[in-house]
Amino acid sequence: MDRVVIFDTTLRDGEQSPGCSMTVPEKMKMARKLVDLGVDIMEAGFPIASDGDFEAVRAIAAEYPEMKVAALSRATRLDIDRAADALKHAKRARIHTFIATSDIHLKYKLKKSRQQVLDEAVAAIKLAKFYCEDVEFSAEDATRTDFDYLEQISIAVVEAGATTVNLPDTVGWSVPHEYGALIGRMVRSFGDRAILSVHCHDDLGLAVANSIAAVQAGARQIECTINGIGERAGNCSLEEVVAAFAVRGDQLPFETGINLKELYPASQLLGKLITFGPQPNKAIVGENAFAHEAGIHQDGYLKHRATYEIIEPSSVGVPEGRLVLGQHSGRHALNQRCADLGYTLTKDQLDAVYHQFTHLADTKKGVRNDEIKTIVQSVVAGAAAAD
Ligand code: KIV
Ligand code: ZN
Repeated sequence: MDRVVIFDTTLRDGEQSPGCSMTVPEKMKMARKLVDLGVDIMEAGFPIASDGDFEAVRAIAAEYPEMKVAALSRATRLDIDRAADALKHAKRARIHTFIATSDIHLKYKLKKSRQQVLDEAVAAIKLAKFYCEDVEFSAEDATRTDFDYLEQISIAVVEAGATTVNLPDTVGWSVPHEYGALIGRMVRSFGDRAILSVHCHDDLGLAVANSIAAVQAGARQIECTINGIGERAGNCSLEEVVAAFAVRGDQLPFETGINLKELYPASQLLGKLITFGPQPNKAIVGENAFAHEAGIHQDGYLKHRATYEIIEPSSVGVPEGRLVLGQHSGRHALNQRCADLGYTLTKDQLDAVYHQFTHLADTKKGVRNDEIKTIVQSVVAGAAAAD
């Protein structure tokens, strides 16, 4: 009962946001990492949206038959047929179909009545069930939907065969106690007839807190992304939510199948495939997440790391040695940091890197790893050009 399903939507909700688009080969690389990470379900694309999305779903399902692969579709025949086609050879397929349920979406976007939306949702589930057993329904903008209507439509889709009901906080509107209460009400309403899923956007910076509140109230699937990428302010960050369960098991006794040591490598890979990495102060995977710069902190940390660290960096795959390097750091420390970052330097290369490093360190307070990487890459590229 306390196992939480991690539904990764980096390749769909994440990928569709600005600066995050990936080619099919790039999605394949990321998919490999998500398999290593141990996500339970991978949402690989929205097949009706583009041929690339279609191909990504098809190729990922073919390459990783043991992985459950989801394809998104609106609640229409065209979309569902296309999703089913992309999943045709998948061994473990899920069709994920959605329709908006809030009055604001019904009135301005869909121009449909509540009854029409309910009928279309039920028809979509029945059609999707024709293709596969595992069908997820999402009530888009659930948190701004009339809750009685939301309950009515949720029960109707479960009766039509939906095996997972997702109640997204599409616009990041909810706050934890409110979202928890909504989820609790729905869990009581349809019990174990379907898994209740949550999908939170981060417009108020509450996506992780809301997802956790939902799990405490009975949700058993979290939809999330690596580095929290996604529309606008992003989605619930996978690394943050699973680390919270791992580190605070005393308060949050929930399990996931995530291999924590792959969190940082997955974050790094995604940052290389899209146009940006996590912000430096991002929890768990950010450049500064385990960096100690203030003198008092460094002193305490060096005496006993638990004074200022609640997570062992290596437990989430972060290379050790996060003391900030600055103008007082020596060649040895720099060489060690380069090695931690994956670079083996010759003596001449280290001399050149050290030279540039000391210049930079003189001008600022602490040199970040990404700056060290830039220096190393320019030195290595310079050496290669000279050869
Ligand atoms: O944010 C949202 O509501 C979605 C749905 C399509 C699940 O991404
Ligand atoms: Zn979303």
